[in-house]
Amino acid sequence: MNSFQFVNPTHIVFGEGTASQVGQLASKYGKTILLVYGSGSIKKTGLYDKTVGLLHEAGIKVHELPNIEPNPRLSTVNKGIDICRTEGVDFILAVGGGSVIDAAKAIAAGVLYEGDVWDFFTGKAVIGKALPLGTILTLAATGSEMNGNSVITNWEENLKRAFGSPYTYPKFSILDPTLTYTVPRNHTVNGAVDIMSHVFEQYFSLTENTPLQERFCESILQTVIENVEIALEQPEDAAARANLMWCGTMALNGGLISVGMTNDWASHGIEHEVSAIYDIPHGAGLAVIFPNWMKYVHEERIDRFVQFATRVWGVNAEGKTDNEIALEGIQATRDFFTRIGAESRLADFGIGSDKLDRMAEEAVRYGAIGSFKRLEQQDVKAILELSL
Ligand code: NZQ
Ligand code: ZN
Repeated sequence: MNSFQFVNPTHIVFGEGTASQVGQLASKYGKTILLVYGSGSIKKTGLYDKTVGLLHEAGIKVHELPNIEPNPRLSTVNKGIDICRTEGVDFILAVGGGSVIDAAKAIAAGVLYEGDVWDFFTGKAVIGKALPLGTILTLAATGSEMNGNSVITNWEENLKRAFGSPYTYPKFSILDPTLTYTVPRNHTVNGAVDIMSHVFEQYFSLTENTPLQERFCESILQTVIENVEIALEQPEDAAARANLMWCGTMALNGGLISVGMTNDWASHGIEHEVSAIYDIPHGAGLAVIFPNWMKYVHEERIDRFVQFATRVWGVNAEGKTDNEIALEGIQATRDFFTRIGAESRLADFGIGSDKLDRMAEEAVRYGAIGSFKRLEQQDVKAILELSL
């Protein structure tokens, strides 16, 4: 196990009906807020009216930035920064999924920075301060509700980039699983794949002596596997929705499950290049890429893949070689993604081979990616080719 420090400052308020606490929570941090949301789901469900009502009751002035895109765009973030500056906004409230929360974080950091907020995503500048923000989560997926990460697309340049900062952890996040009852089937699937992928990025590690962390990872994977099909059959199954939501938050909240482990994150890097150009949902891209990454790298540390196959998928190891067991576990992952309705090939999105070189080149723009196996441009291209 490597040495580590761990801090997570986000106040989590979990449970049915907890959205009614938003006025009280937000008023601790601001008097003039920017309410950030997506393209209408919160209006349909009534959450918008309820939230605005509660904020007004708490004496808070509300400005709005609607229409955050899935795969949120830099141009929209800049609109939010302008509103905050013009209106003297002192707190940002994101109500939605990861895209809405990520946009809110970028706005929070950008408002207090004189340069171009994109500098934080290219590494040209490091965040030193940000406006406080809070969230009401409506989709179990990214973990953005309890981490400091933001992923934004510069659509003009077809670049999707991330930052992670201690200054952009939400002050509070309201996690009411009943707010996810209305998440459509495909986004429930994408969310589950994303949660599992966050765990994979941490679990497939070369760091030795991390048995507790590995079991944290395996338990999240098993819990998602046990619950996602229930949520797909019964979208209003309270227990399944609650379990998925907590899995999402635990899978990526500043590294709790993998403290002291070196993480990989190559598959995320590759997927971001695909969605930067083709604007496909993040979880859907991961469902295509991750099993192919696994096939490409599993021999680097076969014992971890054997453990994955036997503990997570219950593969019977008797009379089989390590390689056979590992490959069965990878196939079980692919089959599970397919069974819940995820796509398995880039061709399912109409993506061909014409931009593979550009995606592979961009993925390694700052050097080789991944730690389980260091991937150079030709490795990324090979994984993308396997994914066609
Ligand atoms: O826009 P609205 O109308 O809200 O609809 C959304 C959107 O169309 C809909 N939705 C959300 N909650 C709903 C709902 N529809 C009905 N009922 C509800 N309760 O779902 C659609 C997808 O939403 P989005 O926020 O885009 O999904 P997700 O949470 O998966 O976020 C994806 C974004 O997060 C980034 C991804 O790259 C992508 O840009 N990521 C952020 C991370 C982070 N901050 O730590 C890590 C991840 O690895 C990921 O990269
Ligand atoms: Zn992800």
